[in-house]
Amino acid sequence: MIKDLKGKNILLGVTGGISAYKSCELSRLLMKDGADVNVVMTSNAEKFVSALTFQYLTGNKVSNDMYDVSDPKISHIDLADKADLIIICPATANFISKFANGIADNLLLNILLATKARIIVCPAMNVNMYENKIIQENIMKLKKNGVIFIEPETGELACGWEGKGRLAEIENILKFIKKKFQNKTLTNENVLITAGATREYLDAIRFISNPSSGIMGLCLADEFKNRGAKINIIAGHTEVDLSKYDNYFKVDSADEMKNEIDKKLNTYSIIIKAAAVGDFKFKSKKKNKIKKDDNSFNFQIEKNIDVLKNIGQKKIKHQILVGFSAETEKVVQNAKKKIKNKNLDFIVANDISKKGSGFGSKSNFTYFVDSNGSVEELGLQTKEKIAKYLADKIEIMRQN
Ligand SMILES: Cc1cc2nc3c(=O)[nH]c(=O)nc-3n(C[C@H](O)[C@H](O)[C@H](O)COP(=O)(O)O)c2cc1C
Repeated sequence: MIKDLKGKNILLGVTGGISAYKSCELSRLLMKDGADVNVVMTSNAEKFVSALTFQYLTGNKVSNDMYDVSDPKISHIDLADKADLIIICPATANFISKFANGIADNLLLNILLATKARIIVCPAMNVNMYENKIIQENIMKLKKNGVIFIEPETGELACGWEGKGRLAEIENILKFIKKKFQNKTLTNENVLITAGATREYLDAIRFISNPSSGIMGLCLADEFKNRGAKINIIAGHTEVDLSKYDNYFKVDSADEMKNEIDKKLNTYSIIIKAAAVGDFKFKSKKKNKIKKDDNSFNFQIEKNIDVLKNIGQKKIKHQILVGFSAETEKVVQNAKKKIKNKNLDFIVANDISKKGSGFGSKSNFTYFVDSNGSVEELGLQTKEKIAKYLADKIEIMRQN
């Protein structure tokens, strides 16, 4: 049997929830796959499962005491440093909130603050606790700081309620961890990214356009490529060089972009429309340069095709469609409208009225809005981080 996790040190944090017994199985499966598993429990977790169980399952001492005099090492730093990945399973509402606020009053919380390893959190709790605004804000705060969440499932809960809050299936958690180590989490995806600004020509040299640089598109292409996806780019005018990608095609106008996308539309599994497509074009275009003294010329403007809506109308099953939008007002409200009208899975709405955000800059002030209308305010983040965040979101979508 191939042991995918051989040589990996995984720290499994267990907190005091009813589903703590399920993490015994997780520790066993991680071990079986070759990982060296160190379990750290909160004192409340020990009310649900015994440290002894984990100790025998993992073959390692279970830590729970910050001030263990029998251990000559500073245990929270030692455990934090040697972990390749930390997973908190299950994570209680209490623990998530403490972590989100930098509280460090037990060993596990100290480790989380001290580690440089990737942290995955698997919440499990009563549906009302999970939907509580304070908990959601704390989850969001952690997400913004790079913590990965494996969302709980919807169904019958131990407390008797029905709803979202049940710990994700252990098998899926294990799959997710393995993929994280391979770092090639999107190998089966054929991704289309559109980037840059379209140009609508009036004559041989004059056009209407916008200042989109293509930086966001490049960050997306790099991030998805690093995760193993096949990348296709259709770009308008860009300030960055996208030609290192083989499947790269340049267009000018919105119509050209639409036609190029349509050619292989059904072959893409993920479509991310980061291009800034102009809404208007000239009704007629002159082949030659219009002379200054040509007083007979009178131009008219008409609406362009809505490229994103066109894709949304033709979207096939399992295709994930993401739009980017730039807004100066009612950012979230407009995004929610677009997600419905255009049949999107996600929209990354960028508030370009915010300082440091928008065309040509290295960062954007974004809100992630999904098709259920949930909104996550990412705030001002670099375009690399936004690309990472979107890739994480898509990974989780694919997993569910
Ligand atoms: C029977 C029982 C089951 C519980 N299950 C959960 C749970 O699933 N999720 C949760 O967030 N809290 C649950 N709690 C509450 C936590 O145990 C409590 O918030 C505790 O402070 C968590 O401690 P810890 O986060 O330090 O481990 C439960 C409590 C009891 C008595």
